Amino acid sequence: MHEQHAQNYRFFGAPVGLFFTIDRVMGRGSWLDYGMFLQAIMTAARGRGLDTCPQAAFTPFHQVIAEQLGLPPNEQLVCGMSLGFADESAPVNALRTEREPVEQFTRFLD
Ligand SMILES: Cc1cc2nc3c(=O)[nH]c(=O)nc-3n(C[C@H](O)[C@H](O)[C@H](O)COP(=O)(O)O)c2cc1C
Repeated sequence: MHEQHAQNYRFFGAPVGLFFTIDRVMGRGSWLDYGMFLQAIMTAARGRGLDTCPQAAFTPFHQVIAEQLGLPPNEQLVCGMSLGFADESAPVNALRTEREPVEQFTRFLD
């Protein structure tokens, strides 16, 4: 489990590792916008035959990452992201998680 978690910090072997930051003055609504921005990147990547993995695993190490990237003090780390081509032969990529039926998380009002 620890070895698999450590793969985060090698971007799972992807050729591209991304770090996303946001200005600290931005409020909750902007974080929602940011989530949509991340989703759009992931969808666009799929459209070009690329795969991604958004990574919150980096956030506990925001101080050292900020130092290494030379981030100005107003910039806050949101997450990392691996970008590349998934190894479909890797067992970890064979996992398919179940989806909740829409009725489980939606209340329909007549
Ligand atoms: C905000 C966010 C943070 C995530 N952080 C990590 C991470 O640090 N490491 C990781 O391997 N996957 C991370 N994931 C990916 C999830 O583990 C999962 O693979 C992905 O959301 C796809 O889910 P699905 O299997 O339900 O399609 C993260 C996903 C999200 C949305």
